[in-house]
Amino acid sequence: MSTRRRTENRAHLRFSVLLIIIINTLEVKISLIEPGKLYKTYLKEDLELCKDCFRSQLKGCEKFYENIIGQDLSLQSIMDVLPKMPSKRNIRWLTMQNTERVVCKYLGYRNQRKHLHHATVQKLRDELLHSQSAWQYCPIEDIESFLLQLRAYLSLKLETLWLYALTNIDLLLKPVLYDLNFPVPRTWHVCGFTLIEDNAGQSLHYFYRENFFQKLEIAKQLLEASLQFSNGFSNYRLYITDLTADNIVYNVAKSKLYLIDLDTILIVDSSKAEYNNSVHRYEYEICEGCFSYEPLDICNYNISDVNIFLACQFLTEDLYQRKTGGFLYPIPQSVQERYPNLEKLLNQCVQCSQSNCHNRFDSAKNTINLIKEILLNHDTHLYKQIV
Ligand SMILES: *[C@@H]1O[C@H](CO)[C@@H](O)[C@H](O)[C@H]1NC(C)=O
Ligand SMILES: *[C@@H]1O[C@H](CO)[C@@H](O)[C@H](O)[C@H]1NC(C)=O
Ligand SMILES: [Mg+2]
Repeated sequence: MSTRRRTENRAHLRFSVLLIIIINTLEVKISLIEPGKLYKTYLKEDLELCKDCFRSQLKGCEKFYENIIGQDLSLQSIMDVLPKMPSKRNIRWLTMQNTERVVCKYLGYRNQRKHLHHATVQKLRDELLHSQSAWQYCPIEDIESFLLQLRAYLSLKLETLWLYALTNIDLLLKPVLYDLNFPVPRTWHVCGFTLIEDNAGQSLHYFYRENFFQKLEIAKQLLEASLQFSNGFSNYRLYITDLTADNIVYNVAKSKLYLIDLDTILIVDSSKAEYNNSVHRYEYEICEGCFSYEPLDICNYNISDVNIFLACQFLTEDLYQRKTGGFLYPIPQSVQERYPNLEKLLNQCVQCSQSNCHNRFDSAKNTINLIKEILLNHDTHLYKQIV
């Protein structure tokens, strides 16, 4: 078994190296430019698109870029970027003079540039109301009040606000959610369409083969995050529609989990929902290799359990309903025997049929409590061994 794994690893590595060569060949021009200079160039281009939008950022950003001392080219950072190719070619892992490690993400894209040249607030608003963006808001006709609320935290010009909302909601949401104590990385700067944030941890891909108790801690924090995002802030519910290992990182030193990609979020103003005192229950159904949901359905309710479904499913099975693809699997025999409820609760949370599951919020809370108990007993056990 372990031999086979090693062979797989080696094959994976060879494939990765091959990909890196291809990517580097494609991007040879860009990769030769020092990152500080590269991002200054991006900022200049963004300023050409809309001078007024980014003028106030110029000084702070240029100064920040001067403190970049190098690109982090560890195998880890390269492997991290692979699953995101080619849509996110513009992610770079950098080290600053004060040894801080940051991630720079350029979130603009070329087509949009032509489109939005010399755009006014009115045009941008129309564009957002009538075009399909990656993130969604309900009720859409009311989106302005939400954006203005974000603006209260960010002190941005109106044009910038709408431009960011059209480009990638991460540019607005990340700094606000960090301030509100959501598990997202700290934003250092937003420079034009570049978001610079903490290099917060390693993608969950790295943890599938880790110690089971480490994975339990991650699972607990993921469930807690799914509850926190569901409750959201003010009247706003935040539904993370792509909860995958790429989009979640964990920092071992800080024992802390972060969600790093919110660009496809669904945000619902619950005070405007039609059934504003009832809970939307996600219907578990066979959907081979996919996750499907009806945003309009979710929008009608005070709150939906869709985040919790996604978190429990991630922990328990893959999108083809194979247990082997669940983050927490395989559950070690000794844990299974001592805590048979763990698997039961997880399955209940995924399926949550009317007959055996009151609601997923309770399932999640019960699972969190059980995990706390397991971890506590495990720590005590380790402690006794040491003493
Ligand atoms: C719920 O909706 C009803 C009818 O639309 C409205 O009267 C009520 O104020 C709403 N409640 C909340 C908490 O928003
Ligand atoms: C809506 O959901 C929130 C969060 O669960 C809850 O606190 C609130 O009481 C609910 N509102 C109504 C009117 O049911
Ligand atoms: Mg994404």
